[in-house]
Amino acid sequence: MALFLVFAIYALVRFSSDVPVTYTNIEDHFKYGSTGGERGSGIPYSLWKVMPIIFRQYLPGDYDALKPYSAFGFIYEEGKDLPVGTSRRNVQGIDRVFLNCAICHVGTVRDTPESKPRVIAGMPANVVDLQGFERFLFNCAFDENFTAQRILPGRVDTFNPPKVLLNFRMDRVPASEWVGNCDLPSIWNQGKRKGMWLHWDGNNNSVEERNRSASFGTGANPPTLDRASMKRTEDWLYNDAAPPAYPYPIDQALAARGEPVYTEYCAQCHGKNGRDFTGQYVGQVTRIEIIGTDRHRLDSYTEELCANQSLLYAAFPEERFKHFRKTYGYANHPLDGVWLRAPYLHNGSVATLRDLLEPAANRPKIFYRGYDVYDPKRVGFISDVPSEKGRAHFRFDTNLPGNGNFGHEGRDYGTELGAGEKEALLEYLKTF
Ligand code: HEC
Ligand code: HEC
Repeated sequence: MALFLVFAIYALVRFSSDVPVTYTNIEDHFKYGSTGGERGSGIPYSLWKVMPIIFRQYLPGDYDALKPYSAFGFIYEEGKDLPVGTSRRNVQGIDRVFLNCAICHVGTVRDTPESKPRVIAGMPANVVDLQGFERFLFNCAFDENFTAQRILPGRVDTFNPPKVLLNFRMDRVPASEWVGNCDLPSIWNQGKRKGMWLHWDGNNNSVEERNRSASFGTGANPPTLDRASMKRTEDWLYNDAAPPAYPYPIDQALAARGEPVYTEYCAQCHGKNGRDFTGQYVGQVTRIEIIGTDRHRLDSYTEELCANQSLLYAAFPEERFKHFRKTYGYANHPLDGVWLRAPYLHNGSVATLRDLLEPAANRPKIFYRGYDVYDPKRVGFISDVPSEKGRAHFRFDTNLPGNGNFGHEGRDYGTELGAGEKEALLEYLKTF
């Protein structure tokens, strides 16, 4: 009996464990803390460690053996075992690893190819190749080619995965909804965004709901979501997370000449400046016919999905989605930290801020993304480098469906300003 009891207690403890690795520093919590995603989706830690060794042939480029997942642009910091955007939790006696918010919302910037990258929490993940990582996992599991084409480096399809989750007949989804690819946004200053209609298409005006819907991206669903851990991240995004100041020289006199240009043309939609988000139309939606940008992301979110999303969290009535809506255009977001948000527009189709001030015909038609060396002259990342150390950057072809680089053009959007005014406006935007 005694032996049985000892074994029973051991089994109980062993198989009911649910202990995340925790961090006292809030930025570490954001980068490495668990959202609960490991409970349902976690990869056993030992497998996580051994896969890159056994399946070396599936890792692209020359990578550092101590930081194998850097092959997919995952960011390693000194003294940390796991890369940024991954978290560890012991579930039912097994250490498991999965992704968290930081995999899509932490990026890096370098001054020169030789400089050490600066890791910036809250900026769009500009170097991570999620598709490459997924392909690696599938290759390891099945040792055969995986052809998911929806998830691209630095971008993700937001609202087609929930359709799968809600058992939509994907074979009957009309072609107009197929391409939902969009750029990863920055997520600083959520508190100042309270009440604004955000997400790229302005389909939700609740900060809490945008976070809850985001947690699906980390593999956590209503029964597995770690609410206390989420709350900590949420509070930080709400109260403290802010972009770092532009680190290169700013010509203050030139910037001062750009301010009235910004105030006249841009402030009504994008807010007074990078810290004060007041403005007549900020957080509202500009009709697609007026903004004229690529409409695929807008069309991928539908009335039908909106109605069905309210069924998620069915057993948690107070957490059900109540703020989603179907819109008719794209939202006017504040531009805080805009220098780090390249490439621009909801689909990341315009390489630099300087290019956005040109009509579409003059914007680059093909460029590369995934490189983090900064270009202070055009304000954005250098976009003509196809690969580095054997790791290919993503070739962005603006001719493909969903990748259109048109729109946000004409008098109201600054593309008809004189060259001098454009330079001044560009300089002013560096202060955001
Ligand atoms: C797989 C990538 C991915 C993961 C993981 C992810 N996000 Fe996001 N996040 C996105 C994308 C893409 C959008 C833009 C959605 C759209 O409009 O289509 C977004 C939008 C947001 C927004 C809205 C920004 C705004 O102001 O409109 C917030 C807030 C946010 N995410 C927070 C989080 C939090 C918190 C987590 C972790 C629980 C998280 N995200 C995990 C990709 C991700
Ligand atoms: C009528 C409202 C409106 C005006 C005026 C306007 N914009 Fe925009 N802007 C938008 C909308 C809507 C988007 C999102 C479009 C998309 O992503 O497809 C946008 C996107 C942007 C982005 C990309 C943000 C990102 O994170 O990728 C930048 C930068 C920008 N605008 C700068 C400006 C500047 C500079 C001006 C003034 C010269 C200006 N805008 C004028 C509505 C406006």
